[in-house]
Amino acid sequence: DKAGYKHFMAKEIAEQPSVLSGALSAYLTETGIALPEPGLDFDKIERLVMVACGTAFYACLTAKYWFERLAGIPVEVDIASEFRYREPPITPGTVALFVSQSGETADTLAALRYCQGKADKIVSVINVETSSIARESDLALPIHAGAEIGVASTKAFTCQLNALLLLALKAAQSRGRIDDDGLHEFMEALRALPGVFNIALDRDEVIAKAARQIAEARDVLFLGRGLMYPLALEGALKLKEISYIHAEAYASGELKHGPIALIDKNVPVVVLAPRDSLFDKTVSNMQEVMARGGKVCLITDAAGAKAAGEDVWQTIVMPEVREELTPLLYALPAQLLAYHAAIAKGTDVDQPRNLAKSVTVE
Ligand code: F6R
Repeated sequence: DKAGYKHFMAKEIAEQPSVLSGALSAYLTETGIALPEPGLDFDKIERLVMVACGTAFYACLTAKYWFERLAGIPVEVDIASEFRYREPPITPGTVALFVSQSGETADTLAALRYCQGKADKIVSVINVETSSIARESDLALPIHAGAEIGVASTKAFTCQLNALLLLALKAAQSRGRIDDDGLHEFMEALRALPGVFNIALDRDEVIAKAARQIAEARDVLFLGRGLMYPLALEGALKLKEISYIHAEAYASGELKHGPIALIDKNVPVVVLAPRDSLFDKTVSNMQEVMARGGKVCLITDAAGAKAAGEDVWQTIVMPEVREELTPLLYALPAQLLAYHAAIAKGTDVDQPRNLAKSVTVE
């Protein structure tokens, strides 16, 4: 049931405030973060290996920053189809973590089975609690996104990020990297996030306007640094999968190592850059783009919009949140940009050509 929306994707984007709120209450208690039994012995983890496909892989790439920064755990992230055939060594002290909305993705399941008997623990972050990946894990963390019908993953992505962030915070606490006050501040910011999501969704008209312009392009680039780099990858994937516009994402710092050759007035560049610790670096990359006639669509906050100057082609202003939460918030404009570009192109948003919701064959 589309609940009055034109597409499941629109509904699933719009319901993210309430879905996130539910997902948070499944894990947050008065005093901390409660994981399902049997929990995890975070002190003993020496290495975390995260494996997934597609959007779930980008959730893992984002979580790498959180696990490293917040919990001090060394992290490797891999695409399931590469991991399973490379058969990498799994050293003692390794926890293997698999992220899958459906819990049935063939490559991810095969990667999980490869790690059985080798990793200390098999953990999964899934949406379908009865799925094969959930059943074959030592610990399965549901993301509580509810059924996702649109082929392009939206609310499952934000809920994957949420579950992974909570896991990283729990790890940080167990490893003595965050004190009670720090954790409570974080929990407060998380509890406020669904309300912030609503403000972001209210920017729909501005985003749709930018999307209609972007829809005229043949190629689009996405740039981001730090936590915004995986989100740039996700934004590009979303755009190509439902609007069929060719889109590529790069870490901003990689621009001058090749992709800058693509820049001209016909290639819009979507820059994801909240005014965070890396903002100034990204702005200088953005200026390199504009100096070559590139048209920048900047997704930022009010402080970022002010600092970026007047030459920016389109600016989408997000509310301010603490730096660690920006990937969840900035996912929303990235999804809406793709959605409205697809509407402008007249493609089948919920059933894009050649794609299946669950990829159970490799
Ligand atoms: C993109 C998308 C896919 C899936 C990927 C993994 O919008 O939905 O890239 O993320 O096929 O699927 P799951 O999470 O079910 O393993």
